[in-house]
Amino acid sequence: MDRGTMYNIDLSLENCDIDILDNGRTIKDVIDSKIKELGSVDNEEPFYVADLDSVYKRHLRWLTNLPRVKPFYAVKCNNTAVVLRMMRALDTGLDCASKAEIQMALSLGATPDKIIYAHTTKPMSHIKYACAHGVDVMTFDSEDELLKMSLCHPKAKLVLRITVDDSKSLIQLSSKFGAQLASVGKLLERAGELGSEIIGLSFHVGSGCTGGSVFKQAIADARHVFDMANLLGFQMRLLDIGGGFSAIGDFKEKFEEFSVIINEALDEFFPPDCGVQIIAEPGRYYVESAFTLAANVIAKRVICDDMDEDSEVEGSPDRMMMYYLNDGVYGSMSCIINDPAHSNLEPYLHRVVDSSERRYRSAIGVQPATALTK
Ligand SMILES: Cc1ncc(COP(=O)(O)O)c(C=O)c1O
Repeated sequence: MDRGTMYNIDLSLENCDIDILDNGRTIKDVIDSKIKELGSVDNEEPFYVADLDSVYKRHLRWLTNLPRVKPFYAVKCNNTAVVLRMMRALDTGLDCASKAEIQMALSLGATPDKIIYAHTTKPMSHIKYACAHGVDVMTFDSEDELLKMSLCHPKAKLVLRITVDDSKSLIQLSSKFGAQLASVGKLLERAGELGSEIIGLSFHVGSGCTGGSVFKQAIADARHVFDMANLLGFQMRLLDIGGGFSAIGDFKEKFEEFSVIINEALDEFFPPDCGVQIIAEPGRYYVESAFTLAANVIAKRVICDDMDEDSEVEGSPDRMMMYYLNDGVYGSMSCIINDPAHSNLEPYLHRVVDSSERRYRSAIGVQPATALTK
């Protein structure tokens, strides 16, 4: 879908209605009434329906399975105001990756002590902003970043990010972020020379992690670095086990499976009485199944195979219908391009078609459709 057909969806709080699903009403019913409401004023814009109960249920599942790990929701995954408000109500922390995300979190009432600035490459102006607003906990993985932080936020409480095995993940982050174990000793010594305060360690196994054993090795590596840092005089008290969790599709049972591995590794390497706070930065896990996008088909045309004359004949099985939506890869569906972990969008028809209506093989925008429709 080209930019010309991109529509902006306003997800600000002012433009957001909250509805309670009582008397057996479903998300589908909410979508129906919204379509009617918008249609009555000639409005065809796409819109989202967010199921906050889904976010809440994910949170309960987290608390049940990972009771020792406090979630700091990764704002980058979905920074809709209503999601951030929900996280605040659930008393999670927030992982912010930029000044804009910190601003948003603070403006929605998050307190600085509930924010970790979890980006290892930060503009100096953003570090100064964090400093001025009391956001002290931030990550780093290089000497250059250490220097920037000692200049712009000398009282920062630093979390060293290390690389871990991310070969089992759909999105790998270790080639860009994290210090190699071999360079950790030098970094710790440099931090000591600069008078920086290192309080903990973080890692991220990559998004869409398919094998939980990497968490065990990562937690064991973390223990090793904690011991090195403690020997050098740092008081290490925070372990951040990152993100990578999902619980839909092929990942349905993975969260529980990973949790068993993580809990055992934590009990072995960071037992409950060791004085280390354990946090994580889940993003996709919380919001991946909460939002439904309702987009309109705004145009359609028959596409025929040039090589096959039969396809031009009405009723030919080779005839295809191309549908154009008013949202696409430069809008809500950017995951098709950017997120291999969530690129298989499956359209489903909201309006049920009469079984007597003609059906064609069909395609939607740039995506082959799985739904057959009129
Ligand atoms: C630093 C950091 N934390 C957390 C996340 C969230 O990861 P996930 O959605 O896999 O939980 C990401 C994702 O890119 C990240 O880069």
